[in-house]
Amino acid sequence: MHRTLPVDSSPVRDLLALTSRPEVISFAGGLPAPELFDLDAMRAAYDVALQDRSVLQYAPTEGNASLRALVSARLTSRGLPTSDVLVTTGSQQALTLVATALLEPGAVVAVEEPTYLAALQCFQMAGARIVPVASDAEGLDPAALREVVERERPALLYLVPTFANPTGRTLSAPRRAAVAALAEEHDFWIVEDDPYGELRYRGTPVAPIAAASDRVLYLGSFSKIGAPGMRLGWLRAPADLLRAVTIVKQAADLHTSTVDQAAAAVYLSHNDLDAHIARLCVEYGARRDAMIAALPATVPDGTTWSDPDGGMFVWLRLPGDADSAELLREALRHDVAFVPGAPFFATTPDPATFRMSFTANTPAEIAEGMQRLAKVLR
Ligand SMILES: Cc1ncc(COP(=O)(O)O)c(C=O)c1O
Repeated sequence: MHRTLPVDSSPVRDLLALTSRPEVISFAGGLPAPELFDLDAMRAAYDVALQDRSVLQYAPTEGNASLRALVSARLTSRGLPTSDVLVTTGSQQALTLVATALLEPGAVVAVEEPTYLAALQCFQMAGARIVPVASDAEGLDPAALREVVERERPALLYLVPTFANPTGRTLSAPRRAAVAALAEEHDFWIVEDDPYGELRYRGTPVAPIAAASDRVLYLGSFSKIGAPGMRLGWLRAPADLLRAVTIVKQAADLHTSTVDQAAAAVYLSHNDLDAHIARLCVEYGARRDAMIAALPATVPDGTTWSDPDGGMFVWLRLPGDADSAELLREALRHDVAFVPGAPFFATTPDPATFRMSFTANTPAEIAEGMQRLAKVLR
């Protein structure tokens, strides 16, 4: 059997390559702000870690024991009792490993729509059939999910329930309970992908779905609260599944970088990550506010947008039959960029949608970028 992977370049990808020109104010990538990296503490952590030669050696697939203990303790203290995790090379790798471990070719994966593009790619590459479930401002609609589940019998449901990529939406607590109950009743797995949950700028935290159900594989990441370049994520899952995924990881890459794990363990034990996240939240909250405040003067009347309580993204829809990919071409001529929404849809794209990230630019840069964008959109 031939496997043909969708590796062609796309017009949107070619356009987004242009956003790296230095004169472009880019709202496209989901990047943390580099000036807010905890650089001195990280450098010190690598220094301490490198005092032990074994951090340059091969290591067990499960991951660095102290990092696993520190991450487990942190999840537990945030209301998600955790005895162990598998350290992964970013949560992106956890998605691939979970897809390999759980999905037969042709298996059905249910997803909220729109959803994280690289998760869609990951499930597609595993040979899954993706079935979208309708969602609204409160996230995935449990009634729509029930219909899909009864009709399609999915093996798993993929969700970014808190400050979703690309919409910024958060699934409400009652809906989380309804989704967990459906997973129990119909015996499917929930993949709860949570890289943004700790970046909350207002409102009160909602407990992870994993706290109420053991049908959940919970994915965490150091990328948005620490540094994505370290490529550190973790998977919390029922013990037998965690073992199965560990075997898949062994075949994939033996283990995640020993030195990066060791440095992260030192960083977490010598520093107050909560305090660092609190600083990020103050800064990102101001950037969020700057973008939301500028929107009415930037977009045409009739545009709708999400109003996220945290995370990195605002999701917009232009009125009528606008084509955001076409508008991106024009925006790049004005040295400003965003991501067209179409690729985030599993089935029927809505070309009038697009995603804007507010984290990587200062409020002053956001104001300037929004003025440039107004010339294109209005
Ligand atoms: C929803 C979601 N999941 C997973 C990832 C991958 O993150 P990482 O592999 O850096 O942990 C991202 C990155 O943007 C994301 O938005």
